[in-house]
Amino acid sequence: MFPAERPRRLRRTEALRRLVAETALAPDDLVAPLFVVEGLNEARPISSLPGQSQHSLDSLLDEVRALQAVGVGGVILFGVPSKKDEFGSGAYDHDGIAQIALRMLRDEFGDELVLMADLCLDEYTTHGHCGVVRSDGTVDNDATLQLYAQTAVAQAEAGAAVVAPSGMMDGQVGAIRSALDGAGFDETVILAYAAKFASGLYGPFRDAVQVEIADGGNRRSYQQDSRNRREAIREARADVAQGADIIMVKPAMTYLDIVADFRAALDVPLSAYHVSGEYAMVKAAAANGWIDAMAVAIEQLTAIRRAGADFVLTYFAREVAEELGR
Ligand code: PBG
Repeated sequence: MFPAERPRRLRRTEALRRLVAETALAPDDLVAPLFVVEGLNEARPISSLPGQSQHSLDSLLDEVRALQAVGVGGVILFGVPSKKDEFGSGAYDHDGIAQIALRMLRDEFGDELVLMADLCLDEYTTHGHCGVVRSDGTVDNDATLQLYAQTAVAQAEAGAAVVAPSGMMDGQVGAIRSALDGAGFDETVILAYAAKFASGLYGPFRDAVQVEIADGGNRRSYQQDSRNRREAIREARADVAQGADIIMVKPAMTYLDIVADFRAALDVPLSAYHVSGEYAMVKAAAANGWIDAMAVAIEQLTAIRRAGADFVLTYFAREVAEELGR
């Protein structure tokens, strides 16, 4: 008769395990980050992100077709311009690369999958910062907001259903919301990178978008400090108050406590970004034969869902969606 508690009873068969599973992971919970590079004629593999590429417009179209075929919920687009400048004008240029790509994808896919645009300046600035840099090297918050507002309108005009401000300037969500509303884009969704931490896990991404921060700089004066948990909730509340429709935590695995906090404290949809370094670590260990990449990817994405995220931005989107569909 002993023990009385027998949880193993419910683990006996795969059918029982499926029946009592508390967390589901489906292709439409996944969003694929994609990079489109101005002037590129064919896809160029990114060595620090095995399996991912910088895309030309043509290869981007093929990739989104493949993602749609396996039921991925959305894509988030990052543009890499052929020319950068001090104010990142390619980000808000009507004919900037991201806008050209968005128009192409909107014409092809309409609203069949969710088209998102990352909204930041770092890919477009010579100094690699996410905002306007003053002569003393510091980032000017409020001057940056005006450029974010212009970028949001350019992206919405080009067909983004969702804009995702990732620069961590104070007041960015409010500035973007009022610019969008003022330009007639009151239905454009804002997905706010509410808690984005200054992380060592963005390395491969910076290869993908060819960004190097000037003078060995970093983003610690605007991205959050990984020691702070209360502060993250404060940031998220501020974003929701300013009109964020969805909030995000980034990176994911090292911040699952923040994901759980947000789920408990706020009732807007919640996402998390399983970032480039998280993907690269799994791929690198698997390439050495040390772990099974697919098993670990599904375990990690499930953990992010279990912690409270409704969906996950991940470079694994295509592979995992293919696997889930088998
Ligand atoms: C900034 C931005 C970054 C990422 C997404 N948006 C990089 C940074 O803050 O330095 C990182 C994503 C990843 O590592 O996968 N535009």
